[in-house]
Amino acid sequence: MTQGPLTTEAGAPVADNQNSETAGVGGPVLVQDQLLLEKLAHFNRERIPERVVHARGAGAYGTFTVTADVTPYTRAAFLSEVGKQTEVFLRFSTVAGNLGAADAVRDPRGFAVKFYTEEGNYDLVGNNTPVFFIRDAIKFPDFIHTQKRDPYTGSQEADNVWDFWSLSPESTHQVTWLFGDRGIPASYRHMDGFGSHTFQWSNEAGEVFWVKYHFKTDQGIKNLTAEEAEVLAGKDPDSHQRDLREAIERGEFPSWTVGVQIMPAADAATYRFNPFDLTKVWPHADYPVIEIGRLELNRNPRNIFAEVEQSIFSPAHFVPGIGPSPDKMLQGRLFAYGDAHRYRVGINADHLPVNRPHATEARTNSRDGFLYDGRHGGEKNYEPNSFGGPQQTGRPLWQPLDGLTGATGNHPTPVHAEDNDFVQAGNLYRLMTEPEKERLIANLAGFIAKVTRQDIVERAIGNFRNADADFGKRLETAVQELRG
Ligand code: HEM
Repeated sequence: MTQGPLTTEAGAPVADNQNSETAGVGGPVLVQDQLLLEKLAHFNRERIPERVVHARGAGAYGTFTVTADVTPYTRAAFLSEVGKQTEVFLRFSTVAGNLGAADAVRDPRGFAVKFYTEEGNYDLVGNNTPVFFIRDAIKFPDFIHTQKRDPYTGSQEADNVWDFWSLSPESTHQVTWLFGDRGIPASYRHMDGFGSHTFQWSNEAGEVFWVKYHFKTDQGIKNLTAEEAEVLAGKDPDSHQRDLREAIERGEFPSWTVGVQIMPAADAATYRFNPFDLTKVWPHADYPVIEIGRLELNRNPRNIFAEVEQSIFSPAHFVPGIGPSPDKMLQGRLFAYGDAHRYRVGINADHLPVNRPHATEARTNSRDGFLYDGRHGGEKNYEPNSFGGPQQTGRPLWQPLDGLTGATGNHPTPVHAEDNDFVQAGNLYRLMTEPEKERLIANLAGFIAKVTRQDIVERAIGNFRNADADFGKRLETAVQELRG
């Protein structure tokens, strides 16, 4: 801030910032008091729409460093050399709560990374879970309606949540994960991140690989029990946000070891699970996680509104050598985020300092719109032109999909040899230790017992029974005990 007197928005000095101007002593306030009108009007417009999901979050800048040669798999320039560093901005979030909600709640955590690469910004907009509740974007608005406030009660309702989950058996895997120990991380620093979807990598020769990203916390996994979280959410609603900021202020920079599972393109058609189904993991025994880098967060934003609230991440922000897979959820997300940004932050959201490329510049012919800053001066705004304007490269960022045949239609996601809605939920349950199972059952039963309709309760328990008979039986007993 420069020195000098307090001013109006137009820069004129302010004489009195304590008393508004009145007609005589004790009289009504005058319209000519422009300072008063300007202050009240600006204040009324301080909020922008919060994110429709993931409204509550915290962010930090940092560095991604390549630790392994991945050039056989991708031609992405930021991954081209061991030791290469790229600036990142990472925003963590919860999903269902509003902007002012408490951090310590049972909910997936967002893990959205923006890599400011020399070929443009690459956004990996993931979660702290490797899978998701549904496998088709067309169900997302309905799903989120059940997580958010009921139109009549204005609160989240167990009836709505379990009605939807029980009628969407593909959610059983993610729900088992969420009600297990990792469902409430102790902080953003003490959890893993995942790209969750399968993405396409392609190398210089145009060979295609399908990949899944993993970010393994170097701080170690730490979680809260349901009881600990209840107390913390009340005592310190900002617990995660504070923890992240204070750790970075202390110089304790959190970091994650970054890995990928890599599937050669030819494996996809015959893999035992549909590799593009977001409700499924690829077991590590099939495709091990290969370490490729290290991500460190080392700088706090200076202004939360400008850099966190107005930050935008889009799964459609790819760079050469990285692209989408035919995962139906991912395909829907390729549209949803840009649309949300245009509504929430505006058509020039990409120009804001946190969002624009840092290691290159955007060269488009898009112009004008609300809050356009005139950055292009008098440059021509069309292409092709003969004035030296930017030109297309002729090389797509990612490789085309082949082998697509058949009629258009509302086709369900194809099922592979071992696919069903319950197999991986059952495997996850059977991997748990006995105390982990006990906590999982107690967490689930506590929530299911709040449902008012018996048919929903039975259907919900039925899905867990399909995953594992013991899981279903113990859950049924625990719910019965709570419901009396
Ligand atoms: C088809 C399903 C989905 C749709 C339509 C959808 C839509 C959205 C929308 C509209 C936002 C708000 C964006 C904004 O206002 O800036 C958002 C935020 C977010 N979503 Fe999704 N989402 C979907 C699934 C997922 C999945 C599967 C993941 C993770 C694997 C995910 C992770 C996130 C994250 C991390 C954010 C917050 C980004 C930030 O920090 O700004 N979403 N989503």
